[in-house]
Amino acid sequence: MYFLPTTEHPEKKEVSSAILLTEEQTAALLKKKGSVLEDLIAQIVECGDFKGEKDQLIVVHTHGKIKPKHLMLVGLGKQEELSLERIRRASAYTIQKAKAMKLEKYGIIIPFEKMKEQDALKAVVEGIMLGEYKFTKYKTEEKPKPKVKEVTLFVKKMEYVKDIIAETQIVCEATNFVRDLQNENAYIMTTLMIEKIARDIAKEHKLKINVIDEKQLKKIGMNLLLAVGNASRTPPRLIILEYHGAGSEESIAILGKGITFDSGGLNLKPTTKIETMRMDMSGAAIVLGTLKAAAQLKLRKNLIGVIPTAENIIGSGAYKPGDVYISYSGKSVEIGNTDAEGRLILADALAYTEINLKPAKMIDFATLTGAILVTFGEYVAGMMGTDKETMKKLFDAGQQTYERVWELPLYDEYMDETKSDIADVSNLGYWPNAGPIMGAAFLKKFVQKTPWTHIDIAGTAWWDKPRHYTPKNGTGFGVRLMIEYLKNLS
Ligand code: BES
Ligand code: ZN
Ligand code: ZN
Repeated sequence: MYFLPTTEHPEKKEVSSAILLTEEQTAALLKKKGSVLEDLIAQIVECGDFKGEKDQLIVVHTHGKIKPKHLMLVGLGKQEELSLERIRRASAYTIQKAKAMKLEKYGIIIPFEKMKEQDALKAVVEGIMLGEYKFTKYKTEEKPKPKVKEVTLFVKKMEYVKDIIAETQIVCEATNFVRDLQNENAYIMTTLMIEKIARDIAKEHKLKINVIDEKQLKKIGMNLLLAVGNASRTPPRLIILEYHGAGSEESIAILGKGITFDSGGLNLKPTTKIETMRMDMSGAAIVLGTLKAAAQLKLRKNLIGVIPTAENIIGSGAYKPGDVYISYSGKSVEIGNTDAEGRLILADALAYTEINLKPAKMIDFATLTGAILVTFGEYVAGMMGTDKETMKKLFDAGQQTYERVWELPLYDEYMDETKSDIADVSNLGYWPNAGPIMGAAFLKKFVQKTPWTHIDIAGTAWWDKPRHYTPKNGTGFGVRLMIEYLKNLS
């Protein structure tokens, strides 16, 4: 999709155009007669068809009174409730409508009072690019709807406009890329495919890459990652990507759970829980998407992406409940439940990262517990860790991007509950209480000193139904959050 910014008046451009209006702006149009466009909208408002209420959308024909053939009026609701999120949503409706109308081009007017035009412009581009996404790869019978090729953005001044569009496009493309990875079949999106994609990204964006294969994993003792992946035809991997945008400055490690399919293992998941489990590599996808976007944006940061990837499947090699393994860190782990596999592969990855890569901080993304979905639904990710400063910043970045995170406590009492009778720790401590916190408590056992934040995205990574600019299934959650967080770091 091509964005064409212009300071020209929309009346004069031959392109059907959308205008986003609050209730107050809509009412004001009745009193204030101005341009032909404003008069035209006033007439529509007069007959009561449009009030500017949130989520309201109407299309009217202009009958040759102005150059654009159609006008699309989209309500933003009450002025005092106006937010970037409202603008994202309203903008998504415009592209969805334009697509339904089979428009090849349309325009959108960006006239926001009381809001920085730059922020509004970013929200508009986000709404359009994220709202346009659909995973249609396997729809062979449905004719694909023609794509909207060009969107004219009517702005007041051109300052910064091109940069904002370019940056927002990079981040939204990365988000849609994450969605593609999440939605893909588990028999295609295997551990080896994740390795290939990581190598492709490294090549294209000149990142350093190191992939530790099953032989080396065995040699160095990453026994938890090996155990989880042992029944699969595609072997586990530890993938390490490095982006150097800040010379000798310290690095931030971003880790992501990469379970390509989570059957639950021998503690097999039941029908209704198993069907979506190709999404269990969402954390890994966020790592790939974030590093790709960071490199394209040339962010002045040093990032290390770490992906432990394995398939949690059954077969003669499957690891078993009751087994004890010695982890990379040296701690012994009792397998209380083979479905709590995410914390196992992350435990080895966190320990490896801290010991060998020595980052200044670690942030991990993982679809770790069904309980976080019970807690927050699909709207908020759970956040726990030892790094108060980073958690505060991630919270703020979440408010800005609407990829929201909320901290849960990781008190000492929970640490005591990770105990096992036969090993140092169990992966099923305190079950079935405090699910998301116990996941984090287990992980914390494998982090020594490095400030660390864990984000449980089991609710936010995958949606049961579409909402606004987010489709059903893979949501791409996490990339916008991470990039916003990184950009705001001093
Ligand atoms: N991948 C699942 C968590 C999950 C559940 C993600 C629903 C997305 C939607 C994870 O590996 C898991 O199975 N966790 C168990 C942990 C339990 C056995 C301690 C769970 O949540 O039941
Ligand atoms: Zn599981
Ligand atoms: Zn899992």
